[in-house]
Amino acid sequence: MERNTRSALGQFGLTRDYVTSAAVWEQESTQIFRRHWMCVGRIEELGTNGVHPFTWEGQQLLAVCGDDRHWRVFRNVCRHRGSLLVRPDECGEIGHRLQCPYHAWTYDRQGCLRAAPNMEGVPGFETQDFGLFEIPSASVAGFLWLNFEPTDAAADFLRPVDDVFRAWQVEQLEIAAELRYLVQANWKLLFQNYSECYHCPTVHPALNRLTPYLGSANELMSGPILGGPMQLAAGCGTMSEEGKLVGTPIASLDAAQQRQVSYYTLFPNLFLSVHPDYVLIHRLQRISVRETEVVCQFLFQASDRQRPGFEPGPAVRFWDLTNRQDWEVCERTQLGMEDVGYVPGPYSNLESVVAAFDRYYLESLGRLANEIHARPNARHS
Ligand code: FES
Ligand SMILES: [Fe+2]
Repeated sequence: MERNTRSALGQFGLTRDYVTSAAVWEQESTQIFRRHWMCVGRIEELGTNGVHPFTWEGQQLLAVCGDDRHWRVFRNVCRHRGSLLVRPDECGEIGHRLQCPYHAWTYDRQGCLRAAPNMEGVPGFETQDFGLFEIPSASVAGFLWLNFEPTDAAADFLRPVDDVFRAWQVEQLEIAAELRYLVQANWKLLFQNYSECYHCPTVHPALNRLTPYLGSANELMSGPILGGPMQLAAGCGTMSEEGKLVGTPIASLDAAQQRQVSYYTLFPNLFLSVHPDYVLIHRLQRISVRETEVVCQFLFQASDRQRPGFEPGPAVRFWDLTNRQDWEVCERTQLGMEDVGYVPGPYSNLESVVAAFDRYYLESLGRLANEIHARPNARHS
């Protein structure tokens, strides 16, 4: 991968309205969260009977494993009068077909309407016209992805991290632990925070001992996937409470990868942190302009999970502490940026990936040319 000298290109941060404005939120809805591939979960967490209702971007969706063993995503909304088809507490009762509990319209697992009682003789009614609405989705690297209005295939979008997925065998890894958070900050503040280690000496003294903050390099410097590796300190095997390995080193990693932790952001909702012995993911979902839900999962090799005495706790506790430190500064930043006196300041070159995130974000909104060269008045008025 290409390595560049890092530079934030003299950029300043985003202005206040990007973390407060309902209009920006709406524009993000149409320009970003309808048009990008988003990770909605691990295949293994979708349930054993092949039906998984969930909300995404405030929409009622239903993942269904078809007879062909492929997962599809549908709107969880009956085509008759709009009842929810399946609630989370009803998953255990689902049979082979999906029957609406209201008037018993019945759909197969490919989303086709198969039965609609007493609809014979209704003028113009044809069952083939009333299948469930499907949302484009894909299963890649053990994750389920969706995109409401895709312009590219999920595999094309993910190609830049294909090496990562392949070397870490992400498809085969299993969830060994999970943490959930509701952070009182705009989703972009979490992306920006994850994208730099300028804050590590002050915010994460324990993390900074394992991976000193100047020991990082950028690999992916522009576009929807950004990030790169940090070098583990001497004597440290992974990111955990004591810096000791928690799982078995992943055999397919090369010597350099065994001595690194790499951090990638996948716009607009996934962080992927690859360690020598496990993969950490943060899956984000914006809830409101100042609230973001985070699901944090620890993926280990199946052989580790099955090993007697395996204990992911040292990694989980380490990252729970680090996460909470991060959320605290994100929430402080949200509060500060909401203040009417906030004026964006300049990025350091250690924040080159934050600047790259802003560029891709503004480009996605169609605002890059307007905003990125605007220099806010740095003086308080
Ligand atoms: S609303 Fe579903 S069958 Fe009537
Ligand atoms: Fe951090």
